[in-house]
Amino acid sequence: MLRAAARKLSVSSTTSVCRGILKGIRHYCKKSPTKLRISEAVSGAETGASVRVQGWVRSVRAQKTNLFLHVNDGSSLQSLQIIASSELTHPLLTFGSAVEVTGTLKKSPHQKQAVELEADQIRVVGKCNPAEFPFKIKERHSLEYIRQFPHLRCRTNAFSSLLRIRSEATTAIHSYFKENGFVQIHTPVITSNDCEGAGELFQIEPSSPETEENENFFSVPAFLTVSGQLHLEVMSGAFSRVYTFGPTFRAENSQSRRHLAEFYMVEAEVSFTQSLEDLTKVMEDMFRFATEHVLAHCVEDVDLFHKHVTPGHRDTVDSMLKKRFPVITYTEAIDILNRSSQKFAFPTHWGCDLQTEHEKYLVKHCGNIPVFVTDYPYDLKPFYARDNKDHPEHTAAAVDLLVPGVGELCGGSLREERLDLLRARLEEAGLGDTYSWYLDLRRFGSVPHGGFGLGFERYLQCILGVDNIKDVTPFPRFSRSCLL
Ligand code: 4AD
Ligand code: MG
Repeated sequence: MLRAAARKLSVSSTTSVCRGILKGIRHYCKKSPTKLRISEAVSGAETGASVRVQGWVRSVRAQKTNLFLHVNDGSSLQSLQIIASSELTHPLLTFGSAVEVTGTLKKSPHQKQAVELEADQIRVVGKCNPAEFPFKIKERHSLEYIRQFPHLRCRTNAFSSLLRIRSEATTAIHSYFKENGFVQIHTPVITSNDCEGAGELFQIEPSSPETEENENFFSVPAFLTVSGQLHLEVMSGAFSRVYTFGPTFRAENSQSRRHLAEFYMVEAEVSFTQSLEDLTKVMEDMFRFATEHVLAHCVEDVDLFHKHVTPGHRDTVDSMLKKRFPVITYTEAIDILNRSSQKFAFPTHWGCDLQTEHEKYLVKHCGNIPVFVTDYPYDLKPFYARDNKDHPEHTAAAVDLLVPGVGELCGGSLREERLDLLRARLEEAGLGDTYSWYLDLRRFGSVPHGGFGLGFERYLQCILGVDNIKDVTPFPRFSRSCLL
C-alpha cells in the first residue's frame, strides 16, 4: 500500500513538474517568435504560430487600411504574403529592401497561397532605392538584361531558380556516384600538364615572385587544370571507380554560347572496362538520374524556366528521358552529314572535326534526343585515347554525347593502357619525358580503363533549354569579360 502511494505521488509530482516546464516553454515562445525560412512558412505546417521571417521585398502595395508585402529569402521560389495594418507603412519599405517581419501565420483566404503572415512588426534592415535598383517591380526581365548585373541578378526570380536548380543538380550528381560505388577524388586545380594537348592553358605565377628572376615558383611551369582526367587515372590504379567534380579552365578565345573560360566538369574513370558501352552506360544513367532528381525536387523552379523562360522545353526533356540514347559511329555520322541536304558552313568529310552545326544536325536526325557518337579518327583525339588498330580507317575508342540545343555534352574514351603503344605515341609527340610518371601507370599493374567528362553548365543548358552558357553559372568567366 505504501509503495502504491509513493508511485502515485511520484507520477503526479512528475506531471506537475512537466506542466510547469511546458508553461515556461510556451511563455518563452510567446516572448520570442520562432524564426522561420520562407519555405517553411509557406508550407502551412506552422499555421497559428508566432513567427519571425527575414528576406527581401519582392512586392509592396499599400491600401487604405492594409499594407501587403511579398517577402522572399531564396529558400524557395514562393514569397510569403505579409498583411499588415497600413500604420506599419514606411517610406523605406520599398521593392528590393531587406526586412524582418514578426507576426502570426494565418490560413490565407486566397487560393494562390496556403498561409499569410499577419504582421505586428516590420523592420527595414537594409533600404533599397527603387529608382536606382536595376530591376523593376512586377517586371519579367530577360536573361540578357539581368546578365548585365552579375552582382545583383540572384535577386530575380529566374536567376534564383537557376541557382537552386544548380545546387540540387550538384547534389544529384554526387548522389549518383555515391550510390554507384564511386570514390570522390579532389583533383588539383594547379597542374603542370595539358591533358587535352590543345594548348588552351592559363599559366599561373606568383604576383610578386620571391624567387630569382626566370625561376618558376614550382620547379616547372604551372597551369590551371583543363581536366582532372590524368589525376583520376592515377587513382584508377587503386580504385576501380573514381570521380571528380570541380572547376576547370580553358583559355579559349571564344565568344560562343557554350564556352566559358572557367566551368565545372564532372569526370569519372572506371577501371577494368572492356568496351565503350561500359562508359556510355554510366553517362546515360547519370544523365537520367540527375535529371529525374532535379525534375522531382525543383518542381516550381524548373516550371518557371519551362513555362516562362524557354516555353515548350519540357516536352524536349520528357522525350529525352523516354527513349534509350542511340549510338552511332563517327563514320556513320559522316555518312548522315554527307547525305544531308542542309548546307553547312564547314563541309564534312571523313577525318574532319565535328562542328556545333554538325552536332546539332545529328541530334535532330536521331529524333532530338541525346546521341552517342563513337570511334573518332585516331588523329583527332588526344594522346591518351585507345587505338582501335582498325583498317582502312584508323580510329580511337572515343565517345562524345551530343544533346539537343547544345551539341557536345560529354567527351570520353577508353585509355591506351598498353605501355608500348602509349610510349610510342608520347615519344612521337615529344612528350615522353614530360609524361614519364603517366607511363609508370602502365608499367605497374595497368588495366583496361576509361572515363569521360561532362560539362556541368552545358548539362544545365540542356535540361532547362537555356541558350547562353553565361546564364547558368553564378559568375561567368569568358574572354574579355569583367571579373567581379
Ligand atoms: O571533351 P573534353 O575536352 O574532354 C576532356 O577534357 C576529357 N579529358 C574528359 C575526360 O575524359 N575525363 O571536355 C569534356 C566536356 C565537354 O564535352 C563539354 O561539355 C565541356 O567539358 N567543356 C566546356 N564547357 C564549357 N566551356 C568550355 N570551354 C568547355 N570545354 C569543354
Ligand atoms: Mg570534347
